[in-house]
Amino acid sequence: MRTVQTPDEMHSVCREVRRRGKRLGLVPTMGALHDGHLSLVRAARAQCDVVAVSLFVNPLQFGPNEDYAKYPRTLERDRGMLEAEQVDYLFAPSADQMYPPGATTFVEVAGLSEKLDGQSRPGHFRGVATVVAKLFHVVEPDVAFFGQKDAAQLAIIRRMVRDLNMGVEVVGCPIIREVDGLALSSRNQYLDARQRLSAMVLYRSLCQVRALLEGGEHRTAKLIECGKRTMAEEPAARLDYFAVVDPDTLDAVEEVCRTTLVAVAAWVGSTRLIDNMLLESEK
Ligand code: PAJ
Repeated sequence: MRTVQTPDEMHSVCREVRRRGKRLGLVPTMGALHDGHLSLVRAARAQCDVVAVSLFVNPLQFGPNEDYAKYPRTLERDRGMLEAEQVDYLFAPSADQMYPPGATTFVEVAGLSEKLDGQSRPGHFRGVATVVAKLFHVVEPDVAFFGQKDAAQLAIIRRMVRDLNMGVEVVGCPIIREVDGLALSSRNQYLDARQRLSAMVLYRSLCQVRALLEGGEHRTAKLIECGKRTMAEEPAARLDYFAVVDPDTLDAVEEVCRTTLVAVAAWVGSTRLIDNMLLESEK
């Protein structure tokens, strides 16, 4: 695996890969890798000739009171994990290299960016869309892999690619969970043992909603009520949102029909956690 630090070098390396006719896959990450990230890398390995992983803790997507400074940075360990997955290129630029002084150009996916996490994290999705657009320009991948774990992020990137004719195939990959259901996240390491137990309530609330739907309840008001009630049973979790929306537009739906996204976000202590399920219905 070759590690590349500057956007210019990465651009020419990737150009050469594509000139040789190879199918190039990109997995964007912020590091502190876990099996969720590795599932994307494995999907890329299975579908592409050459796999590039980017590792960049993007300052632009963190709010002023968020965890940019304390976000876990474990480059050497991450590098070892990616070597073991037979990744070809690791792109790990510094913040100065990604954002030269005076950088004032941003990508905003209007409408979607203010929904779900965008509501309580103003500017977050602008930061995500901007850095992913930059990564796409640097790497020019044929295909890029994202986790369903960040369902709103996935919707926003799909929309950006469509709206700006980026010509990158976007592949969404399923959520990887701990055995007890907690979705893997780099932020889980902030949780102490008691908080770790409390955090399971997110998945539990989604399962309750799924069971209610399977029992024939399609009205979202009822499903949300059930999800919120389950969330309220865990006093250590402070709910941000519990939403039932269209997975592409992130607009609220009245009834669950076809594929619907059920998404939850909550703080456990000072750690913000998210989880979701895609529910199918014949109705
Ligand atoms: P990060 O949180 O490091 O996640 C990188 C990718 O891993 C994202 O596509 C995310 O959805 C996926 N992922 C995280 N946990 C997962 C899980 N439990 N199961 C499956 N996939 C999972 O998301 C970001 O970084 C950033 O916003 C980024 C896209 C890199 C832009 O900075």
